[in-house]
Amino acid sequence: MNSRMILVFTAIAILMGSAASQPVPWEVSVRAVVATANLKATNKTLSSASGTVSLIIPRLDKSTTMIANVTLKGELINITMAHIHLKNASVGNPIVMFLQPRLNYSARPALLDPPVSFKGTYTFTSSYNLDNIINITPGWTLASFMDMLRAGLLYVNVHTTSQPAGAVQGTLNCPFSCMWPVCSLPGGGSC
Ligand SMILES: *[C@@H]1O[C@H](CO)[C@@H](O)[C@H](O)[C@H]1NC(C)=O
Ligand SMILES: *[C@@H]1O[C@H](CO)[C@@H](O)[C@H](O)[C@H]1NC(C)=O
Ligand SMILES: *[C@@H]1O[C@H](CO)[C@@H](O)[C@H](O)[C@H]1NC(C)=O
Ligand SMILES: *[C@@H]1O[C@H](CO)[C@@H](O)[C@H](O)[C@H]1NC(C)=O
Ligand SMILES: *[C@@H]1O[C@H](CO)[C@@H](O)[C@H](O)[C@H]1NC(C)=O
Repeated sequence: MNSRMILVFTAIAILMGSAASQPVPWEVSVRAVVATANLKATNKTLSSASGTVSLIIPRLDKSTTMIANVTLKGELINITMAHIHLKNASVGNPIVMFLQPRLNYSARPALLDPPVSFKGTYTFTSSYNLDNIINITPGWTLASFMDMLRAGLLYVNVHTTSQPAGAVQGTLNCPFSCMWPVCSLPGGGSC
């Protein structure tokens, strides 16, 4: 088996391992908050890769599963991790969510083993219980996460062996009003 085939099999194995390769259920997507990011190379000399992210955050009464879809383009060698971070240099831009490897809130950062390389397009989708949001300060809740998202303080970072600080990055943008619809209209119609 040549190395290209190994890469392809690695990519397929990871895609099969993700819980949310299925389309997002209509009930979830139609009432969800959707944030997006454009990922850009942090150093164009080292990588020309780019990417897009969509983060779907359902209304809690519809679903507690958040879905992150990351699509990378170009070429990256040895992707080791992908995270959502909080932009706050004074506390070291802490990780708020582990995307790859997909880990829960009580885990510690871990590397993809083996690392993933691709040329062309590479997508990974992971689903999260809202409990997967990492408590970076006492009292951190989904509401805090949404406040940070609304303030443009959350970003996605894809790390590689040769660029451990991040090869492609992008800020999550959550269009106004970045809130779920309010459903208390007179008449009580479903919303
Ligand atoms: C992830 O995003 C890509 C690019 O937008 C899209 O083609 C793909 O269908 C998405 N996958 C899922 C599971 O939503
Ligand atoms: C980008 O990477 C090149 C090659 O390692 C390095 O010489 C250059 O200083 C880097 N640029 C920035 C802005 O870090
Ligand atoms: C960054 O973190 C510090 C320490 O928790 C906090 O005091 C400060 O308000 C934070 N800055 C922003 C912009 O959230
Ligand atoms: C979170 O991950 C850790 C380490 O993998 C595991 O021990 C723990 O049971 C997990 N907790 C939940 C709630 O999934
Ligand atoms: C990629 O990782 C392998 C080991 O997993 C290593 O041998 C190789 O040098 C790495 N390549 C780059 C460009 O980091």
